[in-house]
Amino acid sequence: MRSYNIAVIKGDGIGPEIVDEAIKVLAVVSKKVGFELSYKEYLMGGCAYEAVGTPIPDETIEGSRASDAVLFGSIGGYKWDDLPRELKPESGLLKLRKELGLFANLRPVAVFDELIEASSMKPEVIEGVDLLVVRELTGGIYFGEPRENDGQKAYNTMVYTKSEIQRIAKVAFDSAMKRGKKVCSVDKANVLEVSRLWRATVEEIALDYPEVELTHMFVDNAAMQLVRDPRQFDVILTGNIFGDILSDEASMMSGSIGLLPSSSVGGTVGLYEPIHGSAPDIAGQGIANPIATILSASMMLRYSLDEVKAADMIDRAIKEALHEGYRTPDLAKYHAKVVCSTSEMGEVIRRKIEEA
Ligand code: NAD
Ligand code: IPM
Ligand code: MN
Repeated sequence: MRSYNIAVIKGDGIGPEIVDEAIKVLAVVSKKVGFELSYKEYLMGGCAYEAVGTPIPDETIEGSRASDAVLFGSIGGYKWDDLPRELKPESGLLKLRKELGLFANLRPVAVFDELIEASSMKPEVIEGVDLLVVRELTGGIYFGEPRENDGQKAYNTMVYTKSEIQRIAKVAFDSAMKRGKKVCSVDKANVLEVSRLWRATVEEIALDYPEVELTHMFVDNAAMQLVRDPRQFDVILTGNIFGDILSDEASMMSGSIGLLPSSSVGGTVGLYEPIHGSAPDIAGQGIANPIATILSASMMLRYSLDEVKAADMIDRAIKEALHEGYRTPDLAKYHAKVVCSTSEMGEVIRRKIEEA
């Protein structure tokens, strides 16, 4: 029987609650389709700091590298906000991305017809939205040196090398070829040197993709255009910090940040995680939406394990659950028939897979 080793990193806050639901869904779908998944759990984030004094022990990196794919929940929490940078939960995640060479973060944004009324945006604006944010993940201002805060003056540095821009641009153009053949590269080239290099390099890569229409947009305009007319976008190609911000903004078209999955690729192993964080304001209450994580597990099956049938079954089950009106509280403002907990939502999705 086909079998795969999955590194599981539950993390902090709602991380364990949502990853548990995803694993239970994977159990049902793998049995149904006929393959085996084995899991090894690793520590990262605040929980790792508490247990072993570092937000990412070496064995988390080694175990992830040795796996067929990594399934991750979320890290962070108020408790660890004032730690020195190297000890913060977020540093663990950034180190893992860097060590695994995950320079491309793909964040698809689609609107479920069933949830069109759940969004804070108007139905006629968001109906049919289907875009992909291709976010550079291991460079830019997140990683640039020098960086410093001496209490009187603080600075970070936004750095991109040409080769970093070339490789993320290729991911965006390759993605566009499989979708709507449009790339909108988002930068701040009217102000930043690094964006001028970004723009020139993206133009060069575009020459290899004559079928793809390339446009450029300044990030402030892009933030506005995303809520004015999101259907104009197919693939949004952008750097680390702009992609972080624009993808949270874009998530509200779908109705909740609890719906958006992501895959991080570029190295030998892919990492799959929801785009949201550890939601400390609702952690432990059993009300977090597990769908972003379950969809991340589906992306893992599709893109890292090539178990396309199983991924399709998960996606369909989620659609059916939403169609029948099941909603976690983040989506329950409008048209909820049944307001359910994290585990009840997982249970409904599993039942739909079993019945399929
Ligand atoms: P957040 O994404 O954790 O939460 C923002 C808001 O969205 C909160 O009101 C939260 O309750 C809600 N939310 C998020 N996910 C949800 C879900 N699945 N279901 C229902 N509601 C959900 O962002 P934040 O509050 O700015 O950050 C909290 C912590 O998470 C910080 O420590 C931050 O660094 C960390 N964080 C981690 C990741 C990650 O692990 N990849 C991503 C973003 C933020
Ligand atoms: C995300 C998060 C992370 C990021 C933080 C927690 C480091 O916001 O995955 O979107 O900024 O990349
Ligand atoms: Mn983010």
